[in-house]
Amino acid sequence: RRPVAVIGAMDEEVALIGRGLQQADQDPQAGDAGLKVICGTLNGSHGPVRLAATVGGMGTVNIAATTQYLIDAFHPRAVIFSGIAGNLNKDLHINDVVLGGTLRYLDTDMRLVAQSAPGTEEFHSDPHLLDLASQTLDSMGIKHIVGTIATGDYFVDSPEKIAEVKEQTGADAVEMEGAAVCHVAARNKVPALVIRALSDNADTDYEVFREFDISEYADTAARLVLGIVREL
Ligand code: ADE
Repeated sequence: RRPVAVIGAMDEEVALIGRGLQQADQDPQAGDAGLKVICGTLNGSHGPVRLAATVGGMGTVNIAATTQYLIDAFHPRAVIFSGIAGNLNKDLHINDVVLGGTLRYLDTDMRLVAQSAPGTEEFHSDPHLLDLASQTLDSMGIKHIVGTIATGDYFVDSPEKIAEVKEQTGADAVEMEGAAVCHVAARNKVPALVIRALSDNADTDYEVFREFDISEYADTAARLVLGIVREL
């Protein structure tokens, strides 16, 4: 059966998944977008599930190139993005999870994008994958919502930026890749799922944030990926 592709933006977001899989010993080659892909098999409830996991880098362009490469090279039956995000919802807290029901770009005039590709003002995770993720989170005892995620090519770290993002998108969480993953997946008619564990309240200067140990939150999202994949 076709594999499941798993993408993170940072090393920490893929570390837990990589530890359980055999490492590909191949260094990046010409034509593979500079990516090192970790391949392996997990024991699922319905038999073995193959995975192809990689760290794509931060921001929409890095992750668009990564998503397209994985789709071309591995023909995955689903693409799952696993990572952290800034919280914008007062009812949620650090280490809760937002599933990307709706994904909206922050810095793109979608009227123009949708003019060349109608129906692409916003993007969505696959309903079946969302259901599976919600059930898995329930059984893990992790608070979560299926919500709106805003994706932009900048870090949100001030009340002014929070107000702007909320006003533009009504989002529950903000990050830098989710809409691009779902955008590329939709172009290729591949089901996608964006999982975000909350790492901050979008009020921490990036220079401070980058020194934080985010592995606890990244691992929350990654454990969820493994739980979902076992049921696929
Ligand atoms: N990823 C994690 N926290 C974030 C934030 N505050 N802004 C953008 N991306 C993030």
